[in-house]
Amino acid sequence: MHKIFTVCFLLFLLSGPARAGEGMWIPLLLGELNLVEMQEKGFELTAEDVYSVNAASMKDAVVVFGGGCTGSLISEEGLLITNHHCGYSAIQRHSSVEHDYLTNGFWAMSREEELPNEGLKATFLRSMEEVTASVLKGVTSEMTEEQRREVIAANSVALMEEAVAGTHFTARVESFFAGNQYFLFVNEVFDDVRLVGAPPSAIGKFGGDTDNWMWPRHTGDFALFRVYANENNAPSAYAETNVPYQPRHYFPVSSEGVKEGDFTMVFGYPGSTAQYVPSWHLQMLTETVYPQLIRLRDEKLEVMRHHIERDRAVRIQYAAKHASVSNSWKRWRGEIRGLEILDAVNKKQEQEAAFRRWLESDAVMHAAYGSLLEQYARVYARMETMQLGRDYLLELIGRTGMETLRLAGSFSPLLTMTDASEPDKEALKVEKERLLLALDAHFKDFYQPLDVEMTVVLLKRMREDLPAELQSDVFALIDKKFGGDVDAFVSDLFQKTMFTDRAALVELLQDASAKKLQVLRKDPSYRLYARLSKIYHNQIVPEYSRLRAGLDSLDRHYMRALQDFEPERRFYPDANFTLRVSYGQVRGYEARDAVDFRYYTTIDGIMEKNNPEIYDYDVPARLQDLYAQGDFGDYAREGHLPVCFVASNHTTGGNSGSPVVNSRGHLIGVNFDRAWEGVMSDLMFNPDQCRNISVDMRYVLFIIDKFAGAAYLLEEMEIIGAGLPEEKEAALL
Ligand code: ARG
Ligand code: ASP
Repeated sequence: MHKIFTVCFLLFLLSGPARAGEGMWIPLLLGELNLVEMQEKGFELTAEDVYSVNAASMKDAVVVFGGGCTGSLISEEGLLITNHHCGYSAIQRHSSVEHDYLTNGFWAMSREEELPNEGLKATFLRSMEEVTASVLKGVTSEMTEEQRREVIAANSVALMEEAVAGTHFTARVESFFAGNQYFLFVNEVFDDVRLVGAPPSAIGKFGGDTDNWMWPRHTGDFALFRVYANENNAPSAYAETNVPYQPRHYFPVSSEGVKEGDFTMVFGYPGSTAQYVPSWHLQMLTETVYPQLIRLRDEKLEVMRHHIERDRAVRIQYAAKHASVSNSWKRWRGEIRGLEILDAVNKKQEQEAAFRRWLESDAVMHAAYGSLLEQYARVYARMETMQLGRDYLLELIGRTGMETLRLAGSFSPLLTMTDASEPDKEALKVEKERLLLALDAHFKDFYQPLDVEMTVVLLKRMREDLPAELQSDVFALIDKKFGGDVDAFVSDLFQKTMFTDRAALVELLQDASAKKLQVLRKDPSYRLYARLSKIYHNQIVPEYSRLRAGLDSLDRHYMRALQDFEPERRFYPDANFTLRVSYGQVRGYEARDAVDFRYYTTIDGIMEKNNPEIYDYDVPARLQDLYAQGDFGDYAREGHLPVCFVASNHTTGGNSGSPVVNSRGHLIGVNFDRAWEGVMSDLMFNPDQCRNISVDMRYVLFIIDKFAGAAYLLEEMEIIGAGLPEEKEAALL
């Protein structure tokens, strides 16, 4: 039965214009490209309802939340919903032992209780326009890549300045289709964004890293904020006199729910994808880079795991670090698997063979693109090593690497400043203050036995994994002085280093003369950092950047060539953290042979997972009580409270917090993840397995109303329920 269904479904797909769900489309161009198909799938609104410069439209209710997420406006008083994991650091910053909002949740019971967040921004798109001709003015085909880049940068700056002159708006020019098309974006950035509500992590992060990237999922991954403005409804830094911002548009919230086959649209900021790269790129990732990084992170996670399991305090210190190491580690594994199932490298190679044949048959095209693939082959042959080297070194000395080493490295700007014959006193002071703060942050979440072990493990792996040209001279030293014993070297380092001694560092920063600071240069941690960062900066980055520039140019030509090669195909640009629309349908999927997933989960599944022994599955008592009483308000259907659902929208990192709307533009969910079987969608989309995961708005409303007792927040929303009179509903549209 299922096979027959699959065959029919495939036939249906082959006859359709684009593969179901695939694509991240430019909102400005929906009318030209997508609207007919969207309407065929059930969409009841117009392109202008989604994006309009002059009239209020959905785009006025979508923001970049912080640096890498999306959020949506859900009331006329600036109420904003995004993911718990997007608000995580804001929630964490307000948390202390007395007010542990991560553990217990936080609910402002009045406007006065809403918590300001320094540095947190909500960015609205005001307008976008195509500016390719202006950006490329003066660019010629004779130019080197560098000259080309300079002209483009200068043209872009001029355009941005002109676009925002005399306003408080900001502007960006972004490249699309690998530099073949450019758009100008004008934004309005609000910087008074306050925390309104967040469920406890046991709801907002339920399932933790165990369930991350997985379906079935039971995470209430949402948090509420509010955007504030000055009395003119314009952006203003935090001030007590600020008032809730009144957006041009906000999403009505649907409590009607979803059913299989329903139209869904995700409107947000996907970060980056690589749909049009040649086969060599996929080979580089799946055969070299990902497997090495996965093995390295296996070990990182193992080191963290056994310390976390032994000590609750260490778990708190390392929760965010573990989540961050685990997140890409798990996605890479999924990508490799997903690409294998698609036979992606072969598919690309076949496409390249057809492309070659086409070139052979067309002298003009051959003259223009004849050597492209050979050039790709040559660049990737070298890029493979440099990409691995770059990513690997970042694993060692970057954010999730050796912590003491990294702390030592963070003193490097200070030491450079004190090298000057007459150091700038004011700049020195500022830098010292920065470091004092950095020390607080570092030591708050630092557990030395873990870092000692991590350092040993990472050095051993480096020695085994990296090719000779990227090896460090530290291993010669270890051989000579420690008979090759990495453990002995590391234990000696930790005995001698000052970078584990917070008090000593503070003292040094507070009163040391420039000269005295120089002792840090001799510190073994600093020395090891210097050795490793030298490989990164001297041996890798210059060559990597040169190769990358070569690839940028090849990508630009290849993209254009592909569009000539397949004139019938509807291309969508790779994600570049600009606002995009993706549309699809609510749909379950067949994950593996005989494993068929339903499209939604319910609270029953939370209770099935409930286990106080397992940190990720420790269900709050209050939720258990509500469940036991069956007290689901109006949010359940036939006795079951829905929690999450999957649909076939094409999304990626950055889409977290994106509104998921139904055919009428009502908010039915908040996007927060993808199903593991489909995470290769960044490189190749598989309509059978690529699914985005959203938290159902009915669960969100239930948590706010029943769990948190913050029903007053529902009053400012426009809730479209099954029982609403039709006039009221019509008035809201
Ligand atoms: N996988 C999701 C994303 O990439 C959620 C990550 C946060 N959650 C976690 N358990 N690590 O952002
Ligand atoms: N969890 C991701 C995010 O942060 C979404 C995804 O990769 O699907 O944006």
